Amino acid sequence: MNIFIAGGTGAIGRVLVPLLTSAGHKVVALTRSADRAAQLEQMGAAPVVGDVYDNVRLARWVAESEAEVVIHQLTAFGAKDGDPYAETIRVRTEGTRNLISAARAARVRRFIAQSISFMCSPLGSGLTDEETPLYLDAPPTVRALAEAVASLERQTLDASGMSGTVLRYGWFYGPGTSYDPAGTIPTAIRKGTMPIVGDGAGTYSFINLSDAAAATVKVLAHEASGIYNIVDDSPARSSEWLPFAAKLLDAPAPGLMDEALARRTLGGMRVYYMNEQRGASNAKAKREFDWQPAFPSWRAGFEMLYSDRSRQSSGAAFEW
Ligand SMILES: NC(=O)c1ccc[n+]([C@@H]2O[C@H](COP(=O)([O-])OP(=O)(O)OC[C@H]3O[C@@H](n4cnc5c(N)ncnc54)[C@H](OP(=O)(O)O)[C@@H]3O)[C@@H](O)[C@H]2O)c1
Repeated sequence: MNIFIAGGTGAIGRVLVPLLTSAGHKVVALTRSADRAAQLEQMGAAPVVGDVYDNVRLARWVAESEAEVVIHQLTAFGAKDGDPYAETIRVRTEGTRNLISAARAARVRRFIAQSISFMCSPLGSGLTDEETPLYLDAPPTVRALAEAVASLERQTLDASGMSGTVLRYGWFYGPGTSYDPAGTIPTAIRKGTMPIVGDGAGTYSFINLSDAAAATVKVLAHEASGIYNIVDDSPARSSEWLPFAAKLLDAPAPGLMDEALARRTLGGMRVYYMNEQRGASNAKAKREFDWQPAFPSWRAGFEMLYSDRSRQSSGAAFEW
């Protein structure tokens, strides 16, 4: 299959591109950096160097790739210039618009986009599913990201002339993520600056990067459209996974922080993550794609990730 991927050099892209090329797909991948273009070549992809906001050239690159499918894995959480949240909001709104417009002009038949499972309304009980509304009535600190996610999902599902698939990935962990042993989260845990907020009731649905990439390849093989949660089988409250990770990292046990103080000092987004988010069900993806995560529990995944003390690579900066 001919595939155009935007975001092939990001956390999931670096795992996904080699899977696609080794499966025999012809992959053209966008990057803004000449250095990363060389990495893409090593992964078997043909790089194009440019920016998703350069919509005239983007249309030409997608057309020249003769892509049947466009995969959108863009985020800007690792952005070094500017505010990563603001940049991610822009890439999810304007970046998505440009990619879809280029794909439509090139008569691409399918558009698959990265979303997140952890921006759903916390109202209600139990795990969220693909019908759960996004958290669009959130306080302003959370709402802006929820609106950008809604824009990406709406644009993908409504793209005329193409089928649209939204993959709501859980919390990525693995090398090169913020959960990397040298990443922002282990660093904060070691420093004792990542407390359990309130009751620690925020429920995380994690996904190992290798499972996220493998699920994406499965999705590609099925002519499915719609929204799918790609998460592991073991949703965990922050009061559960945080002490577990601290132990594996030989770090002090996390402290406790009252929710009101956390809201003032850590911000509303962290309170939402740590004490409010609900965790997500993967039942639909399992049912429709016959998919099983190789890491059904983050526990085994974290044990593997944190057992290798020799790793020096730094995780991308992504605020927890
Ligand atoms: N579900 C989750 O938990 C989740 C989801 C996403 C990210 N994260 C976390 O966020 C952190 C950073 O992730 P990341 O490394 O994937 O993010 P990143 O390095 O900021 O960027 C991701 C991808 O988007 C591309 N990109 C961004 N803006 C672009 C633009 N204007 N034009 C063209 N391409 C553009 C980048 O390409 P180039 O830089 O090569 O141009 C890269 O391939 C990691 O810790 C990751 O785990 C978590």
